Amino acid sequence: MSNRLFIISNRLPVSIEETENNGYDIKKSSGGLVSAISSYLKSGGKEAFSEQIWAGFPDCSPEVWQKAHAEANAQSEYDYLPVFINKDDYNLYYNGFSNSLLWPLFHYFPSFAEYNDEDFETYMRVNRSFADAVIPQIRKDDMVWIHDYHVLPLAGMLREKFPDLSIGLFLHIPFPSYELFRTIPKQWQQALLSGMAGADLVGFHTMDYASHFLDCVEQVLKVEHEGQSFLYNGRRVKADAFPISIDVDLFHKAAESPEVRRHKNNYLELKGDKKLIFSVDRLDYTKGVDNRLKGYHKFLLDNPDYIGKVVFVLVIVPSRDEITKYAEQKKAIDEYIGNMNSSLGDIAWQPVLYHYNKIPFDEMVALYGSCDLALITPLRDGMNLVAKEFVATRTDKKGVLILSELAGAARELTDALLINPNDITEIAEAIKTGLEMPVEAQARRMEAMQACVAGYDVNSWATDLTKSLTAVKKNQSGTEVT
Ligand code: G6P
Repeated sequence: MSNRLFIISNRLPVSIEETENNGYDIKKSSGGLVSAISSYLKSGGKEAFSEQIWAGFPDCSPEVWQKAHAEANAQSEYDYLPVFINKDDYNLYYNGFSNSLLWPLFHYFPSFAEYNDEDFETYMRVNRSFADAVIPQIRKDDMVWIHDYHVLPLAGMLREKFPDLSIGLFLHIPFPSYELFRTIPKQWQQALLSGMAGADLVGFHTMDYASHFLDCVEQVLKVEHEGQSFLYNGRRVKADAFPISIDVDLFHKAAESPEVRRHKNNYLELKGDKKLIFSVDRLDYTKGVDNRLKGYHKFLLDNPDYIGKVVFVLVIVPSRDEITKYAEQKKAIDEYIGNMNSSLGDIAWQPVLYHYNKIPFDEMVALYGSCDLALITPLRDGMNLVAKEFVATRTDKKGVLILSELAGAARELTDALLINPNDITEIAEAIKTGLEMPVEAQARRMEAMQACVAGYDVNSWATDLTKSLTAVKKNQSGTEVT
């Protein structure tokens, strides 16, 4: 048993909603980051640390938190440290700088990026509030893990106070090439990169992202890297790839659970002798849903024999709906589906079954398990865990994965049918190939992908991060290259 694990991310793994009559509702967050860390702690990771603290925004006022936090803490394996941010600041930091500049730019949507001084200033100020909230709680021998693009400058702010603290920063989205990064005003480039360089270890999903980061550091901070690391203010900083994954056992077991079987039987009955295509994403223009629909549309027009014999279940989980680009994306998807269903479908058959809402875990796993084809076509994606979840669920070795080559997961899942998500014809052709793939070929590909996902699951990811951070600290004599 050693040090404490101190996690910092924009959101806490729990949010508190105020209800009528001064009540409250405690809602657990189910995102990839929370499930990754919770699975790691459940399966042994907990023994490595004496305590786990999680700092982040609780999505409620201090007054509501005061009423609810004891109960929220009691239900959790973490001690929560809330970072309160007023509504206006949160808007400019979250909807503004984080999600209207960093998110589109880092996902190669430069024309969507909004460069506003006020957003940047607020982003820095909110990061300072995170630092102010955690600094009094941090002990020198804690291991600090900072997560994602909302808090890029935070490591540098903590470093000012704690020269020897172990700090890891993990980016859950792509890191872009210098040619894109340099479109950000110079002062902002400097603030982001020097902040990131406050960490000892900066983790990315792929080596490409790590190389882009090292390249930007060289161009902007004017420090050359040797291999995967560079010296910054006398401290060696390492950048490396840690492809995040899933809790494979959870999906294996869920696939066999009675609840999932019950849902699966319902879906199989609904499907009848039709083929079933499935996808699930957060609402986001990076997910390539428009091209996915166009590819499916083209497939049906090119292969009219399939009309009435295939159904595409498209689940979109609402997200960031205060941002115009997201609202526009929602409108475009709604319209496309409406037109397609009315032009190709009839009362008895609709080509797309569209569900715009959250979906319970058991139902999602049942859909992974009953579809013939999972269609995952992001225009850019840091990793894409849906692809890995689908693979881990298919204990029957059936089903085909069509995956965008611009998702981080494509680096590992090379036995998927890899497509360019901007090539509508390629998507349409891959759908046909996938639906007609012999079961032996499906099994061969599925087994290869399952071996890959099982070979590096979420515990490997977290253990690797921890070990690597410990090694960087040990080797940090100032000169040694790790
Ligand atoms: C991505 C980001 C996460 C984020 C999640 C949901 O996966 O990398 O940091 O939490 O999207 O987005 P939201 O804006 O709802 O937190």
